Amino acid sequence: MPIRTAGLSARARGVFVLAAVLLLAAVGFGVQRAAGGGDAGPGGGAGPAAAPAGPRTADRIVPAPLSATTGSGPGYRLTARTAVRTATGPDAPAQQAQEVRRIAGQLAEALRRPTGLPVEVVADGDAAADGIGLLLDPALPAETGAEGYRLTSDATGVRISARTPEGLYRGTQTLRQLLPPQIEGPAKAADGTEWTVAPVTVEDRPRYAYRGAMLDVARHFFTPAEVKGFIDRLALYKVNHLHLHLTDDQGWRIEIPSRPELTRVGAVSEVDGTPGGFYTAADYQEIVRYAQERYLTVVPEIDLPGHSNAVLASYPELDCTRSARPWPYTGIEVGFSTLCPTGDAVFAFTREVIAEVARLTPGPYLHIGGDEVKTISSAEYAGFVQQVNAQVLAAGKTPVGWNQAAPAGVGVLQYWDGRGGRDVELGQAAERGAKVIMSPSGRSYLDMKYEKSYPLGLVWAGTIDARHAYTWDPDNVLKLPAGSVIGIEAPLWTETLDTPYELDLMLLPRLPALAELGWSPKAALDWDGFKRRLAEEGARWDAAGYAYERRPEVPWPAR
Ligand code: ACM
Repeated sequence: MPIRTAGLSARARGVFVLAAVLLLAAVGFGVQRAAGGGDAGPGGGAGPAAAPAGPRTADRIVPAPLSATTGSGPGYRLTARTAVRTATGPDAPAQQAQEVRRIAGQLAEALRRPTGLPVEVVADGDAAADGIGLLLDPALPAETGAEGYRLTSDATGVRISARTPEGLYRGTQTLRQLLPPQIEGPAKAADGTEWTVAPVTVEDRPRYAYRGAMLDVARHFFTPAEVKGFIDRLALYKVNHLHLHLTDDQGWRIEIPSRPELTRVGAVSEVDGTPGGFYTAADYQEIVRYAQERYLTVVPEIDLPGHSNAVLASYPELDCTRSARPWPYTGIEVGFSTLCPTGDAVFAFTREVIAEVARLTPGPYLHIGGDEVKTISSAEYAGFVQQVNAQVLAAGKTPVGWNQAAPAGVGVLQYWDGRGGRDVELGQAAERGAKVIMSPSGRSYLDMKYEKSYPLGLVWAGTIDARHAYTWDPDNVLKLPAGSVIGIEAPLWTETLDTPYELDLMLLPRLPALAELGWSPKAALDWDGFKRRLAEEGARWDAAGYAYERRPEVPWPAR
């Protein structure tokens, strides 16, 4: 199991990172700074490509849709007459109709800001009239599913149809990608910007039902506003689950009213000893609501029985094996801590925590961790995980565990590390019916460095550039029974990351690579084509003010 060592204090690392950024920018490595952040050059290697002229065509969408064709003709130009029109029909339940109107409002708002156009919402009008029609159509083929949609555009307008509001929402994300990158800007774009949607027909639905990203808010705490920013980036690429790693050795980040010491003591600090933080119930529910509005399900993780030093500091009576380190714990070693594996007190504790987290979480999943427990026997471990698994089920949620929890009967397992026979154990669990989320650490861990000399991140699972993140098949990492893999998740651990800017540098451009693996049909996956589409996303991130790495393996357009 990895020992993660950073070795630098936050301040020393900050100075180091700043120096490295300036140096790399100076030599043309191309670390991109945030909004308005200067003129770092394009990456080397693949070399700059000319920015394509005209509206974005259907073959430039990320993640690649199931099918897309670009028609002839001028496409649809947004004007002062453009409205977002909903058509839900008389049979749609009132709640669905209301949800479609909310999505229409969200889209109109996103279009208004950069375009400066009025973009009104017309509820239950004629979806075919001038503008952008959102049409709820339960008669679409069943295989369209809940997230699928159809998008057509021509000179008269854009029409998105789907069986559900969720499908319409995914279609609006494609529409964003069919507009010029300036559509992502926080303020009105320069006069004269052509807001034209190319004439296209897109049929789309995802390959996998579960497409996630994880943010570790335990090693470094991120505020609700910062988590919302993270969600914004995920939504654009049709990611539909946000896994929040809420607890670890360095901090406990969610308020549990019956256990006040968890936040009074356990939340004060983070890696390197900088101040920590936690979410109140209201904060957490606000994150959940914001995610829901973008059709992301929050998956909360309470990591048990290991990664629990913050609990042990808060409630020392749960430390029967004396595994705690002095508090606050600000290092990044793993595997030393464990809750007492047996006894009424520990299961009363887990029951209360699980009940509260389940109460605050509308989504189906509750992640119980289970990784890297090194100081108790396998029998103690299995007994503990079985009890907690039962508590999650009793709280009405589906337990999820890291793949170490496979022998303990957890029904959804997140694969990250197959060493030491864990791949075999996972295979056996899948034979018994367990479902698997693929997060192989050597491919999908967004905290791994792009290359050895990169200033942020870790290397224990190797280095991961955008190409390496893209060129693997979630169905063929392990030999599992057909249908076991329900999707893919990209975890972003934050031992070395303590600002949203640093999160961005690790997320972009690798997140869209992993999102495409989760969404697009296998036949559409092709690095050479993808890297060109990915390169065009740079202008979108520039407009949005997102930092990103201008990696040399991607042919970014010259600026
Ligand atoms: C993990 O990376 N410890 C799940």
